[in-house]
Amino acid sequence: MNYQNDFWKQYFRYYDILLKVIPYQELFESIVKHLDVKSGMTILDLGAGTGNLQYFLPNDVNVIGLDNSEEALKD
Ligand SMILES: C[S@@+](CC[C@H](N)C(=O)[O-])C[C@H]1O[C@@H](n2cnc3c(N)ncnc32)[C@H](O)[C@@H]1O
Repeated sequence: MNYQNDFWKQYFRYYDILLKVIPYQELFESIVKHLDVKSGMTILDLGAGTGNLQYFLPNDVNVIGLDNSEEALKD
């Protein structure tokens, strides 16, 4: 299996189901709390996956997500 391509391609088929899992939600809430996000900020999310971090940030925060998996960035 080519780790960089095949693994993440499989992984992201089911990844967003994690949004329904409480510990995953709590992880993002904790990350956002520690980021000390301010209105109007732009956040660079490296290894953003499908971009789930954005769902836990205020609407007036810009997020630039980078990821090397085409599958993650598809939708
Ligand atoms: C465990 S996932 C986390 C995704 C997302 N941050 C989240 O919490 O939902 C790790 C992510 O890092 C990405 N990644 C791994 N190596 C990378 C690299 N060299 N450059 C960019 N992204 C990378 C993977 O494609 C994957 O999306």
